[in-house]
Amino acid sequence: MSIATARVGSNIAFIKYWGVADATLNIPLSNSISMTLADAHTTTTVAWDEIGALENDAFVLDGVAQSPARSQRLTRHLDILRGLAGVTWRARVTSENNFPTASGIASSASGFAALTVAGCAALGLELDATRLSAIARRSSGSASRSLFGGFVEWAQGSSDADSVAFPLYGPEHWDLRDLVAVVSGAEKKLSSADGHLLAKSSPLLDGRIAHVNGWLAETRRALAERDIQRLGPVIELDALAMHSVMMTSSPSLLYWQPGTLDVLQAVRRWREEEGLAVYFTIDAGPNVHLICAAESAPEVETRLAALRSVERVIVSGPGRGPQLLDEHLI
Ligand code: PMV
Repeated sequence: MSIATARVGSNIAFIKYWGVADATLNIPLSNSISMTLADAHTTTTVAWDEIGALENDAFVLDGVAQSPARSQRLTRHLDILRGLAGVTWRARVTSENNFPTASGIASSASGFAALTVAGCAALGLELDATRLSAIARRSSGSASRSLFGGFVEWAQGSSDADSVAFPLYGPEHWDLRDLVAVVSGAEKKLSSADGHLLAKSSPLLDGRIAHVNGWLAETRRALAERDIQRLGPVIELDALAMHSVMMTSSPSLLYWQPGTLDVLQAVRRWREEEGLAVYFTIDAGPNVHLICAAESAPEVETRLAALRSVERVIVSGPGRGPQLLDEHLI
C-alpha cells in the first residue's frame, strides 16, 4: 500500500467566501482572507489499495466508520486524485479532528486540505502548495486557504488553475487569537456547499460584492500594520454583510441562535464601555469567533466563560502550513 499522513490546520476567514461564480469548480465571487489555526487541525492518513482488495473507499472519521452516503464527498474528492494519477485504486482513509465537530470550526477546510496533501503524497504526486490549493478548493473552497500557514488570501481567479490561495504573512507575523464561543452544538441544517448556491437569490448580494474589494484592501492594510483597531471593524462588517446575504436568500438562512446575539452584544459592550480590543466574526453557524491580540485573550476567555449562553470556549493562535507525518493512523 502507498500510504501518507498529513496534519493541516483549519482557518478562520476575516473576509469571507460566500457564493460561487462556478459551482462545479468552486470559483468564488470575490477574494477572501483568513488566518490558519495552530490549535484546530485535522490529521488524515490515506492508504491506496494497489492490489484491488477494496471494493469501495473506506472512511473512518474520529473513530467512526462512515456510511457510503456520508463518504460521498470524500469519494468524489478521491476521484479527482485518482484522475490526476491515472489510477482506479480505492483508498482507506482515517481522519481525526483535534476539535469537536459542530464547534463552529470548519472541519471541511482542514479535512479536505489534509485529504489532498496525504492523498497526493501517497500517490507519489509531487505537487506544490499552489497546485494542492487548487485541488483542495474543488471540494471545499475554504480548504484552498489551509494549504498555507499564517495569514492567507484566496484569489478569486477565473479558472481551475488560478483560483488559488497564497500566503500574505507567516504565523509569526502577528500573535492574534481566535476564541470560539460555542453557544450551540446543533448540527447545521444546510451545508455551506448548498448555502453558496443560494447566495445569488439575495437582493443584498450585489451590495456586499460591490464593497468587498475595499474591505479586502483594509484587511491587508490592518495585517501589514498589525493594527487590531483597523482589522476589527472591517471583519465585523463583512461577517454581518455575509449573514445579511444569508438571511435574505430564498430560502432564508438564519444561522444565529439567541446565544449568538448574546455574545455579539457582550463583545460590543466590553469594547465600547471598557475599551477591550476584541471583535467578532461568524461563519455558517451559530457560534461566534472572537478575534483579539494574544495579550487580551485571557481576559476575553474569562469573560466569555462567564456568559450563560456560552457552552465552551476553544482558543487558537495562527498556525503553520501542512505537515507530512511519519506516523500513520492506520
Ligand atoms: O468552504 P466552504 O464551502 O465550507 O465554505 C466556507 C464558508 C464560510 O466559512 C462561511 C466562509 C469562509 O470563507 O470560510
